[in-house]
Amino acid sequence: MSSQGIRTHNCGELRAEHVGKTVRLSGWVASPRDLGALVFLDLRDRYGITQVSFDESVPEELRKAAGMLKPESVIQVEGVVRARPDGQANADRSTGAIELLASSLELLGPCATPPFPIDADKVSDELRLTYRYLDLRRERPLAAMKLRHKLLLALRQGLDARDFLEIETPILTKATPEGARDYLVPSRVHPGKFFALPQSPQIFKQILMVSGMDKYFQIVKCFRDEDLRADRQPEFTQLDLELSFADEQVVQDLVSEVIADAVGAVRPEQKPQLPMPRMTWAESMQRFGNDKPDTRFAVELSDVTELVRESGFGVFANAVKAGGRVRVLAAPGGAAFSRKEITGLEAIAKDYGAKGLAWTKLAEGGGVESGIGKFLSDAEVAGLIEATGAKPGDAFFFGADSFKVSAAALSAVRLEIARKLDLIDHAALNFLWITDFPMFDVDEESGALAPAHHPFCRPKEAYEGELEKDPGAVIARSYDLVLNGCELGSGSVRIHDTPTQQKVFEALGLSAEEIRLRFGFVLDCFKYGAPPHAGFAVGLDRLVMLLAGEDSIREVIAFPKTAQAADLMTGAPTSVDVEQIHEAGVQLLPPSNKSDAPKDGERVGGAEHEEMKS
Ligand code: AMO
Ligand code: AMP
Repeated sequence: MSSQGIRTHNCGELRAEHVGKTVRLSGWVASPRDLGALVFLDLRDRYGITQVSFDESVPEELRKAAGMLKPESVIQVEGVVRARPDGQANADRSTGAIELLASSLELLGPCATPPFPIDADKVSDELRLTYRYLDLRRERPLAAMKLRHKLLLALRQGLDARDFLEIETPILTKATPEGARDYLVPSRVHPGKFFALPQSPQIFKQILMVSGMDKYFQIVKCFRDEDLRADRQPEFTQLDLELSFADEQVVQDLVSEVIADAVGAVRPEQKPQLPMPRMTWAESMQRFGNDKPDTRFAVELSDVTELVRESGFGVFANAVKAGGRVRVLAAPGGAAFSRKEITGLEAIAKDYGAKGLAWTKLAEGGGVESGIGKFLSDAEVAGLIEATGAKPGDAFFFGADSFKVSAAALSAVRLEIARKLDLIDHAALNFLWITDFPMFDVDEESGALAPAHHPFCRPKEAYEGELEKDPGAVIARSYDLVLNGCELGSGSVRIHDTPTQQKVFEALGLSAEEIRLRFGFVLDCFKYGAPPHAGFAVGLDRLVMLLAGEDSIREVIAFPKTAQAADLMTGAPTSVDVEQIHEAGVQLLPPSNKSDAPKDGERVGGAEHEEMKS
C-alpha cells in the first residue's frame, strides 16, 4: 500500500470540482456491468456510491479483471476523476456528475455469492437477520443507524447543556420491578444465587438522587423477559433520567424540550411545537378507549349508555342492566364498508373480549336501515348523531360491555377503521402527555393489586389516605408520553419517604419479610436525607422507529432478536458446556414445550442445542 493509504476519498465525496484529480477509492462492488469493451461498476461505502469505469483506454487485462469481480467484494481502485458525458449525469446521486476512470485495481476482500442481492426489494426477515451484516449494507438499515446515532447524540448534548450527568448503573444487579420477568445470571462465586439483569435503572437512579447527583441521565440497555411484539425487544434502550427537587411539570417540560430539540436536529421540518398537549388518563380512556391514543385522526368514542338504557335493542339494554357501558364511534364514510369488512372489524372487537360489534349505517336521507338500525328509535338515532357528529354516509359501531372491554375493543376498531379509510396523516408527529394514571391495576376476579407502572410512583396527595381503604381508586403522580399512538416513555414523581413506600409495598400484598429482602436497601436509603425527586424514561428504539417511518423496532436496532427472543446471526441463546453449568451451580431440568420456545426454521445453536438436551 502506498503512503497515500487505502483510500484518498470515500465513495460519496467526489464532485465536479475533483475532475482531473488522481484518487484512490475503496469499497464494495455493486451492480457490475460487463459490456465487453467497457466495464462499469458502482463502488459503495457508508458515504455513497461512485461509478467506476474501465473503458477501451485501460489495459485489457485490467478490464477483464474488473469484469470478473463478484458483487459485494471489497476492492481498491485508483484512477482519474472525469466528468460524465453530457446527458449521463445522475442527479439522484451526490457523485452523479463524475465517474472514476480506473487505472489500477486490487481485490482486498473477496465475496462469496451473497444469500440475497443487497439491492433486492423483498428479502425474508429470517435471511436478513441471519446475515444481518449484509442487511446493514442496505440503504434503509444504514439510514436507520445514522438517524439513531444523530438522535442519541442530540439527546446527550441537550441533557449535557442542561447540567445532567450521565452515570452508568450496574447490569449485574438485583431484580427491578417493572412488571416483566427477569433475565437471571447465575453467580459462580455464590452458588445458588443469581444476579438479575435490570428491567430499568429505576432503583439506582433514585438512589443517585439521595447521593445528591441532582440531575442524572443515562442511555442504557434494559432487559425484560416478556412476550415480544413489533415494539418490544428483550433488550432495548432507554433514555433514562431523574431530577431532584422537581415536580411533574418540570419533568414534562424538560423532556418535551429535549425531545423537541433532538427531533429538530434530525428532522428540522418535523420539529414538534411546545408545549406538547396534555390529557388525563381518565379523559383519554373516555375519548379514545386507551391510554396511548393516536391523535392523528379525529374519530373518538362517545358514551351513549344513558341514551340506550331502555333501548329496543336487547344487547344494549341488557349490557346497561348488567352495569356495563354502551359506547359508539362513527366512521366517516364508513357506509362504504362491505359486509366482509364489517365482519373483519367485528373479529377485531372479539379479539379484545367484546361479545360483538353492533353496527348500522347512516343513509343519505338520515335513516338507519342496515345492521341493528331497525331496532333503534328515532330519538336514539338523533341522539347518536348528536353525540358523534355523524353525517350521512358514515357508519356507527357499538361496544356494549364492561368499561374495560368496550374501551379496548372500540379503540382497536378505531385504529383499524383509520387504516382502512386512510385517515392517518403519516407526516404528523403527534406527541401527547397522558397524566394522572391509576396507581394500581386491580385484578377483576381476585381483587389483587399490581403496580400500574412501578411501586415507586407517588400517590396524589388527595389519595394518600386511600392506600389502605380503596387502593383501586388511588391516582398516581405518573405520566406517559405518547407519540402517534405509541407509548414512548413514562415516569412519575417518586415516593421519597420510608413510611409511604412501606404502605405501597403493603398495599401490593408484600409481607414484611419480602419487603425487607427485596427492597430493604431502598427503604434504608430513604432514611438518610432523600430529596423529593421525579423522573422519566424514553423508549429510544420506539422514538427512532417512528422517526424512521418503520413499523418495528427491529429495523432500528443493529442486531435485534426475533419474536422468539433468538439472535439468528449468532445462534444465541446456545447451550454451554456441562462443566460451565456445574461451575455456575446450576442444574438443568428437561426442556419443556413452552410456546415461546424457538419455532421451526430458526437457528438456535444446532448441534449444541441437541447436546444441551442430553
Ligand atoms: P417503562 O417500563 O414504562 O418505565 O419503560 C419506559 C419506556 O421504555 C420502552 N420500553 C420498551 N421498548 C422496547 N422493548 C421493550 N420490551 C420495552 N419495554 C419498555 C417504552 C416505555 O415507555 N423505570 C421506568 C421509568 C420511570 O419511571 O422513570 C420505566 O422503565 O417506550
Ligand atoms: P346477536 O343478537 O348476538 O345476533 O347480535 C346482534 C348484533 O349485535 C351483532 O352485530 C353482534 O355483533 C352485536 N353484538 C352482540 N353483542 C354485542 C356487544 N356486547 N356489544 C356490541 N355489539 C354486540
